[in-house]
Amino acid sequence: MRIYLTKDYDAMSRKAANIISAQIILKPDCVLGLATGSTPLGLYRQLVDWHRKGDLDFSEVITVNLDEYRGLGADDKESYASYMRENLFSLVNLKPENCHLPDGKISDSEEACGKYNALLGSLGRQDLQLLGLGKNGHIGFNEPGEFFGKDVHCVELARSTVEANRRFFEAGKNVPAYAYTMGIRSILRARKILVIASGKDKADAVREVFFGEVTPYVPGSILQLHNDVILVCDEEAFSKCR
Ligand code: GLP
Repeated sequence: MRIYLTKDYDAMSRKAANIISAQIILKPDCVLGLATGSTPLGLYRQLVDWHRKGDLDFSEVITVNLDEYRGLGADDKESYASYMRENLFSLVNLKPENCHLPDGKISDSEEACGKYNALLGSLGRQDLQLLGLGKNGHIGFNEPGEFFGKDVHCVELARSTVEANRRFFEAGKNVPAYAYTMGIRSILRARKILVIASGKDKADAVREVFFGEVTPYVPGSILQLHNDVILVCDEEAFSKCR
């Protein structure tokens, strides 16, 4: 694993954006695995900025997102499809047909997951997979449990995840209890994995994921077994690793 330690959130975002843009320049038709949450917002802003300046071309890039809430579709403003449209897809020259997420509008979990698994299989391995970390060490929506979920599957969200993500929902609106997520095998298939973490809130997760025991009770800990992981982390998120 390579670790880039940065002063703060902005520097983390710039460094991570640099790595993603290098991937796109190296392979313009790469498959990029993307993530949501607040952590990647700065890096998406940076990528959009470079694109506007004419330095970054997404015309051949294919994207696959980690996850989507079950029950929310592209038109729901709290869906990850909307988040991606607002923060990246509509702001760069990605072709809409090249941007993929699980379909939250399919209520039959088997059908939704089967479809996304088949799509991932047809696109081949992600050249680079971006990941944030849940406070409980989750990646995508792979929550702590007795075993590592393998392929795309439907998960019941941990109560702490529902609470952590409530801030993205209008007051009074329920956070969906279930989500479709790439499984651990779908994530580890990536040739390169880029993990970003910022802030004190993530300090325990960073320590346990990268320096603790490999256990499904800390889903991200399995990243220790992947041979090309880059962690870009600010001082606060790394503060419990010293
Ligand atoms: C959600 C997403 C994860 C993300 C996590 C952390 O649970 N499914 O992919 O990494 O939130 O989000 P944040 O960056 O907002 O802390």
